[in-house]
This record gives sequence, C-alpha cells and structure tokens, in this order.
Amino acid sequence: MDENEKQYTYIVQASLEPSKCKIGKTNDLDIHLKEYNNVPKENIYQYLFTCEVANMAVVENDIKENFGYLREVKTKEIYFYNPDLLDRYVKFIKSHPLFEEEIFIKEDEKKEIVKIVRKFSPSLKERGLTTVDVINKAKKTKNDEFYTRYEDIEKEILMYDKDTWKDKCVFCNCDDAVDNDERKSSAFSLFFIKNFKELGLKKLICTHYGGGLDLVNQGAKGYIFTYIFTKKGFKALKEYPKGYTGSFDDPLSLKILNEEADIVCTNPPFSKTIEYWKIVVESGKKFLIISNIANVVTTAYIPFFRNNQVWAGYSEVDDFLNFKRQITRAAGYWYTNIPIKDRPKYKQLKIVSLKDIPEKYKKYDDNGMLIVDNCYIPNNYNLPFAVSARPILNGLLEKGYHLISDNVYHPYLGGEMKFARVLVQKI
Ligand SMILES: C[S@@+](CC[C@H](N)C(=O)[O-])C[C@H]1O[C@@H](n2cnc3c(N)ncnc32)[C@H](O)[C@@H]1O
Repeated sequence: MDENEKQYTYIVQASLEPSKCKIGKTNDLDIHLKEYNNVPKENIYQYLFTCEVANMAVVENDIKENFGYLREVKTKEIYFYNPDLLDRYVKFIKSHPLFEEEIFIKEDEKKEIVKIVRKFSPSLKERGLTTVDVINKAKKTKNDEFYTRYEDIEKEILMYDKDTWKDKCVFCNCDDAVDNDERKSSAFSLFFIKNFKELGLKKLICTHYGGGLDLVNQGAKGYIFTYIFTKKGFKALKEYPKGYTGSFDDPLSLKILNEEADIVCTNPPFSKTIEYWKIVVESGKKFLIISNIANVVTTAYIPFFRNNQVWAGYSEVDDFLNFKRQITRAAGYWYTNIPIKDRPKYKQLKIVSLKDIPEKYKKYDDNGMLIVDNCYIPNNYNLPFAVSARPILNGLLEKGYHLISDNVYHPYLGGEMKFARVLVQKI
C-alpha cells in the first residue's frame, strides 16, 4: 500500500437494517459508499461517522477486541446499533492513539432505538393487549424492562452441582410473576416450577413488583407466590398482603430474604442494581443473578469482587426479550457467590511471561502503568497492572491475582482517556 494513502475508519448503516451498523476501514470513503449503494436500490447506506486514522487495520482490530460481544457474528464487522452504542463506538475510536481527525458525524442520531434482531411474536390478542397498551408500554419502557429468556436460565443453572439446590428455598424477587398462562410468567418462575423436583427444591418464592411497567400484565398490586411439594402433591399459593409493593426492598420481601430464602435468583432492574446488590450480596445468602457485564469495572461494584463476595458465573447473557417479546441485545453476565467448578473460561486466560505478550497487547500508560489486553496476563510481573473486565470474568482472581483498588482505573495514553479497567497484582 502507498504510504501516503489516507486511511479511514467508518461506521455505516443500511436503511433496512436499523439495529445494526458496520464498522469498517477504507482508503476512499466516497468510492466505498458508492459501492455499498450499488445494490439493492431500496437499501440506502449512509455514514454515521467517518474519521481519518494512522493505521486502519490496527484500529479495526482494537474495535473488534473491545466490542467483540456486540458483534452480530464473529466473521463480519457488523455491530449492534443504537444511539448509546454508537456513542460508545465513536468515543472509543476518537480516544484511540491512532485516531487522527474526525471527518463526519451524522447529526440526527436521536431517532428511537430499534434493537430487534429476531422475532418471537405472539399476537396482541394472544398476549391480552390492545394497540394502546403497547404504545403506552413503549413510551415507558427502559432497560429495566427486559425479560430473561428461559434457555439462558436453564443453561446457567444446570451448570451447578445438584447439591446446590437440594432442599433449598429459592427466592426470585424482581418481578418474577407466575400465571397459569406461561406467557404471563417470568422465565425464572417457570424454570424453577418445571424443575422443582429435578433440583430437589424445598420451596420456591416468587414476587411480582406492582410498581413497574407490568411486562406480564399481572396488575399494579405486588404479590407473593409460594410453591411447595407436600405429601398431597404440589401446593401453590398467591398472596396479596395489604400494602405490599413487591419491591425487593419492601419489608416483607426483606423478611423473606432474611428468614426463608437460601438462594436468590433473578434478573434485577438495571437502574436499581447498586441497591439490589447491596441488599442481596450483604444478606449473606447464596445468589445467582444477572447484571451488566461492566459491573466488574465499575466503582460501585468493584469492592464486592475485591472482597471475594461476588464472582462471575459461567455464562454471558446477550439476548433478552422486550415487552413485545422480541429479542433485544444487552450485555449481561451471571454473577454469583456459589462455587464454580473448573471454570471453563480459565482456558481463555493467557498467563505467560511478560516478554511473551505480543507488543500490541501490552502498553504503558502516561503514568507508567502496564496495561494488558486480549486476556494476556504476565506471570512474572510483580507490580500492579491494568486489565479490562474480560480477564476478571474469566476467573483471573482465582488464579493467584488480586484486585488492589476499590476504584475503576482509567488509563490515559498520550493524554487521551481509555476505556475502564481495574488494577490487579500477582499475590
Ligand atoms: C430486567 S427485568 C427482569 C424481569 C424478570 N425478573 C426476568 O428476569 O424476566 C427487571 C424487573 O424488575 C422490576 N422492578 C423494578 N423495580 C423493582 C423493585 N424495586 N423491586 C422488584 N422488582 C423491580 C421491573 O419492573 C422489571 O420487571
């Protein structure tokens, strides 16, 4: 390639695929866009962002590494799109050391997020909704209102030893509704009801939160659903105690947590995760919950990982259902305090001598702090160094390294702030 040839990183979107964008590289932005718009005619491609970079291949690679979990498939540079994600992509590119100059950013990026990837859509009638209900719910919906999919719960829970569940009382305390109609039940409730005997559970308690969007049409009153197995068979009871909200911090919910629950299992609302973690983690009960993948590198949660009160479960959860029961993407992960046996993700850690870490995956920031990427970990470096969330999720803290600060670490390279990390050190 001609050394003087310009290099560009771009984000382009097709009008017929509003939930995705391509983040690519080219030497000629104009010709590239024309090529995209060649066929088919009704699918119009537009740039959302373009910029000049010093080395487009390196930038592209770093984007793949950083946003791998937001790629549609591993073989293409197609990423999930919504205005928040675009903002993150653009920030990342602009803070990259090889970024040179912004050329274009599309102004009208405030259009509503459309994150539909695949459809699973019972009719409105089947769901007992009218068009007006749907419009009202759409107006109110936010990240809190995602359902967990049954298969994601099954996949994680079945990884744990059967003894974990035997004779235990499971408490699902974030709008885990139960109804005769499965479509109006939370997948957590359904999973534990269906697998009650198989897991050897003693009791299941699920609560419905009356204050939210009411994703599953269970009404504005909080309730407590209890399920046990007696000599006479299964016994289910739904109670609506006076004044009970169904909130995880309602006095009655706290009483159940402290006096009855052995294992708490749910997907709490993203907007209240800090309060939720504080209550559940500090209750001393076992838990298996879904939260944001970035909690590991967020100051509010780092102390829990540092004090060994929380660690990653087995799997990531990328797909949820929105109020229309359509798949929507969000970066979730299972977190727990239940022992993980031979964590399969240890295999993804590359613990090697510092000299064997490829140059592109080790840098020193403006403070001289070593930053390692791509799950490379030096085994002969005794000073603190910075890692992203991934190695922690892959079990680094179980491999002879510990977190040395309760705070997130933001490296600066050439004066530019990079994405969040945490500081670890070999014990
Ligand atoms: C991410 S959704 C998950 C729903 C369900 N647990 C599942 O996994 O499908 C979080 C739910 O918590 C509800 N919620 C919001 N605030 C709550 C609170 N204070 N206590 C309990 N649930 C709450 C929301 O309305 C929403 O239905």
